[in-house]
Parts: sequence; structure tokens; C-alpha cells
Amino acid sequence: MTTVALLPGDGIGPEVTHAAASILQRIRPDLECVEALVGGAGLAHAGAALPPQTRALCDRSDAILFGSVGLPEYDGKPLAERPEYALFLLRGGYELYANLRPVRVFPGLEHASSLKPELVRGLDLVVVRELTGGIYFGKPKEQRVVDGVEEAVDTMIYRAPEVERIARVAFDLARERRGHLTSVDKQNILETSRLWRRVVDRVAADYPDVTLEHLLVDNAAMQLVRRPGDFDVIVTENMFGDILSDEAAILTGSIGTLPSASLGTRGEPGRRFGLYEPVGGSAPDIAGKGIANPTAAILSVAMLLRHSLDDAENAARVERAVEAVYASGVRTAELAGGGPSLSTQAFTDAVKEQL
Ligand code: IPM
Ligand code: MG
Repeated sequence: MTTVALLPGDGIGPEVTHAAASILQRIRPDLECVEALVGGAGLAHAGAALPPQTRALCDRSDAILFGSVGLPEYDGKPLAERPEYALFLLRGGYELYANLRPVRVFPGLEHASSLKPELVRGLDLVVVRELTGGIYFGKPKEQRVVDGVEEAVDTMIYRAPEVERIARVAFDLARERRGHLTSVDKQNILETSRLWRRVVDRVAADYPDVTLEHLLVDNAAMQLVRRPGDFDVIVTENMFGDILSDEAAILTGSIGTLPSASLGTRGEPGRRFGLYEPVGGSAPDIAGKGIANPTAAILSVAMLLRHSLDDAENAARVERAVEAVYASGVRTAELAGGGPSLSTQAFTDAVKEQL
């Protein structure tokens, strides 16, 4: 039996995850979908951001459909007592090193972008973010008092094999797409970036059909809003990827439309164990109102089908259904610009009708 772990989490996580899971169950009734607590919900009801039962479920699952974690009431707490700690444990524990964040502007949504419509029309790029290394995971990572003075340290460290494996994911993807890869670093200042660039250049020798461009991260941030259409695949380290993927996501006008996949080492291509989640966060300000855009969660289901269940056919079916809904003019509140809009549930029903 193929099992999918449903981890809705906090804020709008439950609304959008349940919406997306209902689509998954509609097209793949053979799957076993099992729900478990994570994030703030885990802390409140089971004493941990990633309770042992949740971890055990993930251990025996083929994929995780994740909502979002994070609540303002945990601000300022140490990492291990925060909802986000669950993501750390899942990413680190299952070595989910390859984070794919596709950014697409659906026809008809160009005017929702804060950029001029002609800059984002047809936009289609993927951010490949290294997810289990760099400053998020390096040690030492602590706050301490030295000679009576408070200080804090985070450590940015990369090993060449970590850079190589994420570079290969990005080159392989670029090869399947438009054959252009942009690697982002800060090699004028950071040693880790000099290693990054050297290793990426080495890997490039195996991909003569892919054109490689290197950009410094500050420049990349600027070029993304200046000439977004020139990007195809962007590969970068963990923290730069965190920042640039939000920037890239909002080019579409709503962060609520962007899915992601975090793939690891377990399983083989097409049947990789992975975690699938909306890029946008828990959005506690609109949680529980039934107005959150479920598109990111629904497209995360498509990525789950493609990468973990070897079901490219149904993945494409879900993607086409979402496109058809946008083409028909249907919008959720944040994209409606004050015009008529559908609830989370009604939008999900519209997608089901198109399936
Ligand atoms: C993301 C999020 C996470 C990150 C947070 C919630 C820890 O911003 O997935 O981009 O920083 O990786
Ligand atoms: Mg982020």
C-alpha cells in the first residue's frame, strides 16, 4: 500500500492541505493518506514540533504532503521549541537536500504582479535550493556569553560532495528545460562560495549542452526583478535560496500559487521519498477564514505524484486543471483585486470539475 503522510501544521496549513488532499484522494483512491500533528499543532497537542508518532508515520510513508508551520506566539523561543523546528528535523533527518521551487505566471495573472505585466508574461523558472547544508545546519550554532558579553554564532559550511549533488540536480533539470543554469553565490567575500563556484564549474564539464552563468547574490536579487524572463534554472545555497525563492515567488503576484518539492536520497528517480509544501508560510492573519489560496498545495500534490509516485500522467492532469481554472477567470481573494473571488473550498471544487 502506498502511504502519504498529511502534515497540515499551522495557520492556513490545515485548510489548504485538506483541500489538496481531497484532490489527491479523488484521482488516486488507492492511496492511504494518514494525518499527523506537526509544528505549533504538535507543540500544543503532543509536546513537540515533530512528535514521535509523526516521525514514525513519515518513516513508513512514501511521501509527505506538508502544510506550513509557524505561529507568532512562538517568536523569540529557542529553535528547538519553535514550530519551524519540525522542518529542520524532517529536512535534516531524511536528508532532503534538493528543494525545487518552480515559479510560473499563469496566463491572465500578469497584472497581479507588482512588476510590469510584460516583464512577467510567460515567466517560467525553477529555483533549486540546497536544503540540508550551509548556515542553517553548520555547527557551532549557539548563543553564549563570553567575558560578560552576549554573542551568537551561526556557521556556514559546505563540503564539496554536497555542492556537487545539488549542482547535478540543477544541471539535469536545466537539460530537460531550456538548457540555461544560473548559479548564485557570494564568491567575492565567502570561502564557501568560492568552493561552490569551483565545484559547479567542475560539474559543468559533464553538461556541455547547458549554458552556465554565475551571479553574485546581490546582483541576482536585482536581475530577478529587472529581467526575470531570462532565468531558467537557478541553483544556490540554503540561505540565499530561502531569500531568492520568496523574491521569485512574488513575481507571480501571489506567493499562494507556488509549490515546492524537497527530495532526498531515499528511493530512486520517480519514486523518491520527498516532502511537498507550499512556499508561502502559515499566514496566521487569514487562517481559519476559508479564503486562503489552495493553488500551491494543489500543485504540490502534482509534484508529489511526479517525483514520489512515478505518476507523471496524473501530475500533468492536476496542473492542467489548475491552469484551466485560472484561464476561466476564477480567482481567490488575494488575486481578485477587490473583484469577485472564490473561497478555498469553492476554488478546490472548480479544480475538481476540470480534472
Ligand atoms: C522556507 C521557510 C523556512 C526556511 C522556515 C519556515 C524555517 O522560510 O521553507 O523557505 O527558512 O527554510
Ligand atoms: Mg523561506
